[in-house]
Amino acid sequence: MLRKVTLFAVALALVAGPALASGKVREPHPVAFSFEGPFGRFDQAQLQRGYKVYREVCASCHSMNLVAFRNLGDKGGPFFDPKYPNPNDNPVVKALAADSQIRDIDGETGDAIQRPGIPADNFPAPFPNDPASRASNGGVLPPDLSMMAKAREGGPEYIASLLTGFVTPPAGLTVGPGQHYNPWFPGDVSSAWSGDHAHVPEGGFIAMAPPLAPDKVEFDDGTKSTVRQQAQDVAAFLMWTAEPKMEERKQMGFSVLIFLVLFSGLLYASYRRVWRNESH
Ligand code: HEC
Repeated sequence: MLRKVTLFAVALALVAGPALASGKVREPHPVAFSFEGPFGRFDQAQLQRGYKVYREVCASCHSMNLVAFRNLGDKGGPFFDPKYPNPNDNPVVKALAADSQIRDIDGETGDAIQRPGIPADNFPAPFPNDPASRASNGGVLPPDLSMMAKAREGGPEYIASLLTGFVTPPAGLTVGPGQHYNPWFPGDVSSAWSGDHAHVPEGGFIAMAPPLAPDKVEFDDGTKSTVRQQAQDVAAFLMWTAEPKMEERKQMGFSVLIFLVLFSGLLYASYRRVWRNESH
């Protein structure tokens, strides 16, 4: 019996240990994103605004290595235009690609060159390699954002909360150089807390300075450019890059469901027919 209790205690400690050891983190703000629910779809205007926020703000630190310019013109994407089923022909996509300089090699001389992008290029990374990226960011690597909305618990709501969550640290909390207090960022601030140990503040220290500010990005559709708007739009854009086929997946799920219902009906009808003249 005692052994069982000890084993149980050890198992409990193993399961609960990490959760208890790390600090508390604040729940993301609920956001009514258009893409939620079984019939949710991306809001194209929001994706366009989100792309602009990424390009003009986040892209100076964060790469998105898995996304190519042509993806922007794919069906369901921010700049999809039914007139151009092939996104490589889409003039908006071409212009957006040409806005970026791409590192390349001169085909004849072998020299490293920069050239304007084409739709087939992937988004260029802001730094040539990870050490350069760390060196420019106080030793901390800004993670690639391509799959970020799927990589973090809370997904786009977490991202939107994090971006709007740079609050003044409570008195008694010492924030180190290059660090910023954010109650939504998972971490443990207890060692920097001089206050009551039963009330350690939620969240953690993040090596990213608040990237957004009111009117930092001018939206082409006239939407008011608040920090919250920018944060939600870029979060929606990151959800789309992480799962560009979400709409298709949801539609497919629904079709499969209808098929299953019809198929069950058919099976039942044929069962009745096959056994019609048999006594059970
Ligand atoms: C000046 C550089 C810089 C800019 C601009 C910037 N970031 Fe960051 N970001 C960082 C760094 C550095 C980290 C890593 C922080 C850490 O782990 O402490 C980071 C981390 C993140 C994380 C990961 C948080 C986690 O849970 O690990 C997300 C999400 C993020 N940034 C989103 C954005 C978005 C969206 C934008 C644009 C609105 C943006 N960042 C702009 C430097 C930047």
